[in-house]
Amino acid sequence: DKGVYPYYMLKEIDEQAIVAHTLAQHYFDEAGQIINIDADIISQIKRADRLYIVAAGTSYHAGLVGKRYFEQWTHTPTEVHIASEFAYDQPLLSENPFFIFLSQSGETADSREVLQNIKAQQFPTLTIANVMNSTLTREADFALPLLAGPEIAVASTKAYTAQIIVQVILAHAVENSGLDLKEELAKLAIDMQTIIDDKEIFKTIAEEALDGQRSAFYIGRGLDAAVAMEAALKLKEISYVQTEGFAAGELKHGTISLIEDATPVFGLITQSKTAGLVRGNIEETKARGANAIVLATQSLSRPGDDYVLPDVNELLAPVLSVIPAQLIAYYSTLARGLDVDRPRNLAKSVTVQ
Ligand code: F6R
Repeated sequence: DKGVYPYYMLKEIDEQAIVAHTLAQHYFDEAGQIINIDADIISQIKRADRLYIVAAGTSYHAGLVGKRYFEQWTHTPTEVHIASEFAYDQPLLSENPFFIFLSQSGETADSREVLQNIKAQQFPTLTIANVMNSTLTREADFALPLLAGPEIAVASTKAYTAQIIVQVILAHAVENSGLDLKEELAKLAIDMQTIIDDKEIFKTIAEEALDGQRSAFYIGRGLDAAVAMEAALKLKEISYVQTEGFAAGELKHGTISLIEDATPVFGLITQSKTAGLVRGNIEETKARGANAIVLATQSLSRPGDDYVLPDVNELLAPVLSVIPAQLIAYYSTLARGLDVDRPRNLAKSVTVQ
């Protein structure tokens, strides 16, 4: 039930801080120790020489973020694969691979196909999904829940942030990150709510920047590049504004020729290592007429930035920086008079190959 909300998507965006809280409650005990993750999952990941994350669409984008936690904390090389590619053209595997399937629905046909193939090769598998008792959770060796509650809008929002958080928790469970993660997640939930409560700002940004525009860009580097891809998918799939999500440094290798007068370019700046470089890339687009909209975390922000995100551990920033993008997609779609929850040509769960 949508309750007071005009669309499920807005309700689901709004629920994200609560989901973060729910996940912290589920996966940590009072003392901040990990619970509810089977010891076998942890030992199998420890034994693996390489992790393979397999997913589609938004879940694939969450995997691109998750890779960072597994590589940084568990020191295990991690590959992220598009299920529909992997399924029919399996890449060379390492000797002891461990497979992680990310899915909201647990029913995506391409991911199911990969799971079947991998099981036939007898490699260990884990599904992280929102719908437990789905095909992907039943058929994998292990399953972990996203606990995001039913996601009805076609455009995935709370499942994405939940997928990132569960990957953070899992990587920390395998190899202690040194963070007081339960505490970090509690702070993260508060910061998420702060951004959600600023929704009117994103309504204004969306209406001003996207009115009459046919194309747009999201750019960033590192984790911001991963979020840029998800941000672009959100905007294009419901508003039909053709949007590219780009690693900021790659733009000048061709795609910058698409920038015209007033083309909206959203710059994401949450990573200190690359903040200066992204600033430079944003200037390059402005020099070609772009309308740059900068979203930066407090300590990396400069006067004139369009929105300042709360400071957060940089590894967790994707959970925050995606929320403005979700809201910008929502409001620009609303302004175009389109059905936010049911974009054309799309189904909530893609059960064909
Ligand atoms: C986009 C979206 C899709 C799904 C994709 C995978 O907003 O929802 O890209 O992420 O179809 O679906 P699941 O996660 O159910 O496997």
